[in-house]
Amino acid sequence: MPLVTAAKAAVQSRRESADAQLAPMSFVDSRFEMSMAQTPTLFTGRLELRPLELADHEAIQQKFPKWEIVRLLAAGLPWPYPSDGALSFVRDVTLPAVERGEEWAWTIRPQAQPDELIGGISLFAKEGENRGYWLDSDWQRQGLMLEACEATSRFWFEQLGQSVLREYKAVENEGSRRLSQRQHMRVIWRGERDFVAGRLPAETWELTADEWRRAQV
Ligand SMILES: CC(C)(COP(=O)(O)OP(=O)(O)OC[C@H]1O[C@@H](n2cnc3c(N)ncnc32)[C@H](O)[C@@H]1OP(=O)(O)O)[C@@H](O)C(=O)NCCC(=O)NCCS
Repeated sequence: MPLVTAAKAAVQSRRESADAQLAPMSFVDSRFEMSMAQTPTLFTGRLELRPLELADHEAIQQKFPKWEIVRLLAAGLPWPYPSDGALSFVRDVTLPAVERGEEWAWTIRPQAQPDELIGGISLFAKEGENRGYWLDSDWQRQGLMLEACEATSRFWFEQLGQSVLREYKAVENEGSRRLSQRQHMRVIWRGERDFVAGRLPAETWELTADEWRRAQV
């Protein structure tokens, strides 16, 4: 058996035994396979999702630090946003996590204007928090993030072989909640969490690989 096939078989067998014990999503079992998966460029009907690069920090610094974008993101993000906030986040946090095989990060660009960065989306190998995203206000409400989410869900389930995708969000984040509904996700937890805007009612939404597959027909 070729080495990669043997490695995948071993990972599959470990995953099946973890599933049999009804273990919560474990990235210890699947990390080997996940770390083999590089971040590819993904295309949707209208978008190019391009793997994040260090040079993207300048465009991110221009577009991202707006109150309407950050207020319902997870606490911890510095606010007011420092002038080197995007540089240090991309260079010191995101790209090292990508290198460790714990994150897959893309910039979002319209295919018609591929030089224009209009947002970002990341997948995380982290319990209960597997995806985060933002879109420049001028590009919202056009169904673009739904396209980006669908492309990254496919990557998560088909390429990374994960069995469940979870996201948490503020209950008042209508756009994000609607996105989850459109993807057939379900609420599995309600409580409170800390966001940039403060402590707020929050929910965790979940989509299993089986649910995702059933929704593809
Ligand atoms: C949440 C966010 C990514 C949505 O992006 P978007 O490209 O505007 O979303 P879409 O256009 O794909 O919309 C998907 C659905 O949500 C609805 N929606 C989007 N924004 C909405 C809003 N502010 N209020 C109510 N519904 C909204 C759309 O109408 C659409 O529903 P429909 O198909 O039934 O019409 C964007 O508002 C954003 O970047 N917000 C700031 C960052 C953020 O909160 N990220 C998520 C953290 S959990």
